[in-house]
Amino acid sequence: MMKSLGAKPLIYPAPVLVVGTYNKNGTPNVMTAAWGGICCSQPPCVSVSLRKVTHSHNNILERHAFTISIPSEKHVKEVDYFGLVTGKTAEKFAATKLTPVKSKLVDAPYVKEFLLVMECKLVHKADLGLHTLFVGEVIDAKADESIIGNCGAIDVKKLNPMVFTPDTQDYYGVGKFVGKVFSAGKGI
Ligand SMILES: Cc1cc2nc3c(=O)[nH]c(=O)nc-3n(C[C@H](O)[C@H](O)[C@H](O)COP(=O)(O)O)c2cc1C
Repeated sequence: MMKSLGAKPLIYPAPVLVVGTYNKNGTPNVMTAAWGGICCSQPPCVSVSLRKVTHSHNNILERHAFTISIPSEKHVKEVDYFGLVTGKTAEKFAATKLTPVKSKLVDAPYVKEFLLVMECKLVHKADLGLHTLFVGEVIDAKADESIIGNCGAIDVKKLNPMVFTPDTQDYYGVGKFVGKVFSAGKGI
């Protein structure tokens, strides 16, 4: 029997994203976000929903740009720290010894050690309530060569991204291969 859990946004799993921004003085900042994803293929757009109290929220409004990196499992500690403290009072790059890289394409930094990044120009924003939805057009996506598989596409096993479980608030790795897209359903 299905049990009601109340009105909750339970998209399972959610991604684990790291949003890179500059503040008005040019200090790089990073925050962890799970409320986000792909939202348009053409033009290529991704979104994150940030609470107004976050430093990153102000930074995006200031600079009209952000980056989204996909961290790997091995950086779970740093990623969690990015979500525990605010850039209003902490220098998160210095604290974690990770390296900010200035994007040549948008006014935002990304994390050198993370293997996949999208450089985004802010194209839409919507005040939804607690969160503001920011839509960024992806000006470029960059992947470290080490995660590119034989066919020239990103190999998820090499990237080793994490996912987030919204109800229990845990990090997980990705699971096993279960089928080929636009193929698994063909037998029906
Ligand atoms: C796994 C995880 C996911 C999170 N997802 C979001 C999110 O989608 N939106 C948000 O506003 N805060 C989210 N947070 C909380 C922010 O990362 C946190 O408030 C952070 O300190 C904000 O940093 P800033 O003030 O430097 O921007 C998340 C935290 C964690 C650990």
